[in-house]
Amino acid sequence: MSTTTTLITGIGSLVTNDPGQGAGPLGLLTDAAVVVDGGTVAWVGPAAQAPAADERFDAGGRALLPGFVDSHAHLVFAGDRTAEFNARMSGQAYSAGGIRTTVAATRAASDAELEANLAGFVREALRQGTTTIECKSGYGLTVEDEARALRIAAGYTPETTYLGAHVVAPEYAEDPAGYVELVTGEMLDACAPHARWVDVFCEKGAFDGDQARAVLTAGIEKGLTPRVHANQLTYGPGVQLAVELGAASADHCTHLTDEDVAALAGAATVATLLPGAEFSTRAEYPSGRRLLDAGAVVALSTDCNPGSSFTSSMAFCIAVAVREMGMTPDEAVWAATAGGARALRRSEVGTVAVGSRADLLLLDAPSHVHLAYRPGVPLTAAVWRAGVREV
Ligand code: NIG
Ligand code: FE
Repeated sequence: MSTTTTLITGIGSLVTNDPGQGAGPLGLLTDAAVVVDGGTVAWVGPAAQAPAADERFDAGGRALLPGFVDSHAHLVFAGDRTAEFNARMSGQAYSAGGIRTTVAATRAASDAELEANLAGFVREALRQGTTTIECKSGYGLTVEDEARALRIAAGYTPETTYLGAHVVAPEYAEDPAGYVELVTGEMLDACAPHARWVDVFCEKGAFDGDQARAVLTAGIEKGLTPRVHANQLTYGPGVQLAVELGAASADHCTHLTDEDVAALAGAATVATLLPGAEFSTRAEYPSGRRLLDAGAVVALSTDCNPGSSFTSSMAFCIAVAVREMGMTPDEAVWAATAGGARALRRSEVGTVAVGSRADLLLLDAPSHVHLAYRPGVPLTAAVWRAGVREV
């Protein structure tokens, strides 16, 4: 069966994230063209040398980059936490306990309601250029509710993460060990068939180092790959545990000792920074600069959730990372595309190279730098996912 080829030409500035193909780590090309064949990138190079194709799209001198890879989001839930946010912005502190408010609303919701919410968020993200998105459970905290969250999520993304260990379920408030037993036993059995990853919120008020190790180890034994909510609110063992267990990512990384930074720098574990969380909890931002200077691989993600970070905007995260976390626009754009792909161990997304999935974001701007330079401005001109024009 033959597929339709499309030539996207007139690209003023193309981020390939393929250093072999253009300048710097972003592999930047100017006056470029891309040929898409079906769902895949078939050719990349100077516009003047582009081959013919069935269809033609003129980018009009604007910037094209890989679709964003949002490697950390919590999208299966009901209700919102406006009142909690309001109280926080009036001086109240953020704590992990707020998660239970969303747990109650999520348990009470129908499957159809949860699916409609999820579909809405995935669409909202896509409209802003996110073509790959990870999705965690963690607002059910019973065997049935965690399994249904993952079953629903799996209909929208292959990047599904079992987060039964988000906080101790209210029914187990007096018996956290019993809850860890459930999470590593019956709940894991029900969830593993729908999940690729296992995650744990390793934090004061959630799960300590030993409990987190038990959760991750049990997941690994079931064939899941670990990723960890680590060092968000306080210093702690999360990052070291993530590195020790070969986790794909340690997420948040807000409170890091020099040893934590060194561990990340020497490991394949990606440091995923989630500036929406610090923004929405009025907390200090993690230092992207410190991690990058040490040699760690950094990803940026939204952490989209109703409590600590209710944004689906990768562009917002890029702008904050540049303004507040010591990252250059190039580093932040790389982290939001190729960095996210590394955090999800995906080689066919996050780049624009021959063989990549044709996930492309055209900006209403001449350069990817505008994502930070024009904060808050909707710059999405077009989005293709696997070669299909979605926006
Ligand atoms: O990543 N850190 C734990 N989980 C979420 C917060 C979830 C919530 O407050 O509902 C996070 O920030
Ligand atoms: Fe999170």
